[in-house]
Amino acid sequence: MNGVVLISGNGSNLQSIIDHSIAIDLKIRAVISNHTNAYGLKLSEHENIPTHTLSHKNFSSREKFDQALSNIINQYNPEIIILAGFMRILSAEFTHQYSGKILNTHPSLLPKFKGLNTHQRVIEAKEKQHGVSIHFVTRQLDGGPIIAQTSINIIDTDTKETLAKRVLLEEHKLFPKVIHWFTQGRLKLKGNQAILDGKIL
Ligand code: GRF
Repeated sequence: MNGVVLISGNGSNLQSIIDHSIAIDLKIRAVISNHTNAYGLKLSEHENIPTHTLSHKNFSSREKFDQALSNIINQYNPEIIILAGFMRILSAEFTHQYSGKILNTHPSLLPKFKGLNTHQRVIEAKEKQHGVSIHFVTRQLDGGPIIAQTSINIIDTDTKETLAKRVLLEEHKLFPKVIHWFTQGRLKLKGNQAILDGKIL
């Protein structure tokens, strides 16, 4: 299945998806970053994957940026759009245009801790558990139907850095697995529900 990956940073999730791509039947046609200096762009070039940078700073509105983003995406006609550490809120128009095709990884046990700085906020809230959620992207920020989660236990000595590392390791395992469900045609979005093998998740 043809896919496009959107990133903003280090690209460790991208690397994990690349490493699994043959096994999960995913052809990454392009990687797009909104930051010119994202390390993930170097990873993509190393793998000979076409890259694009589109700085949001050059656009006067979210809608204009998203329009330019979809112009690039549409060149590749992807069946799946993978947000792998893409740190931009997408407009309602964008999410509607690609409804049921956009997957995101979020570093918390949604619906808890939507938004940024999840690891720090989890510690401040004295949570006992933390984790990762993979979800369909809809117009609600980090609020689309949850597909899969992995939990980790928080220990007293954890810091936001140690949590970030452990959560990333779980993302690297869970995201390719969920993408594979999608490429196999087992995972769909119907209305506001994620469906796997015909069953509501
Ligand atoms: C991941 O934890 C992702 O969930 C969050 O930012 C991190 C990106 O890491 N939004 P990377 O760029 O994939 O290494």
